[in-house]
Amino acid sequence: MTLACGVDVGGTKIAGAVVDLEGKILEEARVESPAMDAEAIEQAIADLVADLRSRHEVERVGIGAAGYVDAKRASVMFAPNLALRDVDLKSELEQRIGLPVVVENDANAAAWGEFAFGAGADVDDLLMVTVGTGVGGGIVLDGRLYRGAFGPAAEIGHLRVVPEGHLCGCGQRGCLEQYASGRALVREAKTAAAGGVDAAEPLLALAGGDAEAITGPLVTEAAQAGDPFSIELIASLARWLGGGIASLVAVLDPAAVVIGGGVSEAGDLLMLPLRSAFESQLSGRGHRPVAEIRLATLGNKAGVIGAADLARH
Ligand code: BGC
Ligand code: NA
Ligand code: ZN
Repeated sequence: MTLACGVDVGGTKIAGAVVDLEGKILEEARVESPAMDAEAIEQAIADLVADLRSRHEVERVGIGAAGYVDAKRASVMFAPNLALRDVDLKSELEQRIGLPVVVENDANAAAWGEFAFGAGADVDDLLMVTVGTGVGGGIVLDGRLYRGAFGPAAEIGHLRVVPEGHLCGCGQRGCLEQYASGRALVREAKTAAAGGVDAAEPLLALAGGDAEAITGPLVTEAAQAGDPFSIELIASLARWLGGGIASLVAVLDPAAVVIGGGVSEAGDLLMLPLRSAFESQLSGRGHRPVAEIRLATLGNKAGVIGAADLARH
């Protein structure tokens, strides 16, 4: 059995898993990665892989990193939410690990995971949207992952949606990620709670009265328990996403759009307003087939599963 290790390197955590040829996870592990430098990130990945390898015959390693990856699938050129700038992760990790390593973008890896084994298994053309710390994108065209000419295609989190809008980690202003990511959601929640907005009181109470203690999962939990303010925060994020996806669908015409990442755990609270914003903003609506917007079926495992599978392709 050919096993590969997939590693998802995100803004807040590094997750790894041993994955078989059918996309099945045999074992997983994770570490938090708050503000690590490149060296620490490399070491954390190497340690995670070493641990998993001690119990499984791993032959290859696939990394899904939250940044702009070059066409050689080796270097992270830039990462808006991670301390990685022109880092040749492939050779750094091959030296530390001693196995062949392939580096991919995290959302591309998730797109591949859902395409090969999940919500996109029945289509050839797919747009993946991951909503977590950042907003990521992955495009499968005609059964192949689209990387563009230089590698970092599908950076949909940096679609400019508001001229002169919020400053983004990428250095530009008004990127979709600043309105539709988990981090944007938390920023809005904290601002309202700290500013004494009445509607935010129940959420603030849930956070023990400390606005700084509000997290994405806490907002989701509050929304699921019926808190109107939290429900509206998620709905607002969903409307931004739906609008962005309408623009992307006009360009790409995918058969399906798959929504994943941590925020997708909100389920219908996210998906219902997202679908209606998407449908109402789609160009040519009523006169064209409309891509189905689906929830990821691999959940937050899509990245590790896809990265492991891409290491074999
Ligand atoms: C990064 C992408 C990444 C996404 C999700 C964005 O800020 O630019 O490379 O895929 O976040 O992690
Ligand atoms: Na991508
Ligand atoms: Zn940006």
